[in-house]
Amino acid sequence: MIRSSDRRGRRGGKAARSRRIGPPAAIAALLWPAALIPALGIAQPPDPAARSPVAGEAAPAGVSNPGRAWQNWTLNCQGCHRPDGTGSASTAPPLADTVARYLAVPGGREYLGRVPGVASSPLGNAELAEVLNWVFWRFDRQHLPADFAPYTAEEIGRLRLQPLRLEASQMHTALLEQAYEAAASRKIAEPARP
Ligand code: HEC
Repeated sequence: MIRSSDRRGRRGGKAARSRRIGPPAAIAALLWPAALIPALGIAQPPDPAARSPVAGEAAPAGVSNPGRAWQNWTLNCQGCHRPDGTGSASTAPPLADTVARYLAVPGGREYLGRVPGVASSPLGNAELAEVLNWVFWRFDRQHLPADFAPYTAEEIGRLRLQPLRLEASQMHTALLEQAYEAAASRKIAEPARP
């Protein structure tokens, strides 16, 4: 009795050829999607120190569970802002090295609670306040004011009742400009170091 695989083999046709290249092709198929992961910016487990404080490091203010905050960031925010908070021209502005600067200008604190991605997030007030507080710690702790009071669930609940719409991008530009100007004048005012 001739098995169908023998028949294909003897014919030496397409099926037999594809069987010969089978294993490498299967490996490539397995590897190819994996190669896409960094290109698409899909979550790769970041360095644990990047999502939770390490031993001896101060806990992020207003964050009771850094692991949960990181997970909420991953599921709700990083798709637009990218895992490392650098954003992209086509999705969302960078939060890295920027986001805490808003706290130094009048209206900046309110803006952060009313910006559409925050205000319309599916997260509840407490977890949204926590993820925002975590965002400062994770991406821009160097610009957090010394007297920073973390957002509370109550404050976020109040701010998100007035979500910004199209005016958000204009406010983004105006507030950041003020923040950079304020930072520059603080530098001039500081006495030069010997
Ligand atoms: C659909 C894309 C998208 C998602 C999801 C998103 N954002 Fe945003 N985010 C933006 C855009 C775009 C802006 C700039 C303001 C605007 O035009 O809305 C922004 C602005 C911000 C700002 C103000 C910083 C600035 O420079 O304007 C913060 C803070 C922020 N987002 C945090 C978050 C957090 C936290 C989450 C998750 C809970 C989140 N975003 C989810 C798109 C998004």
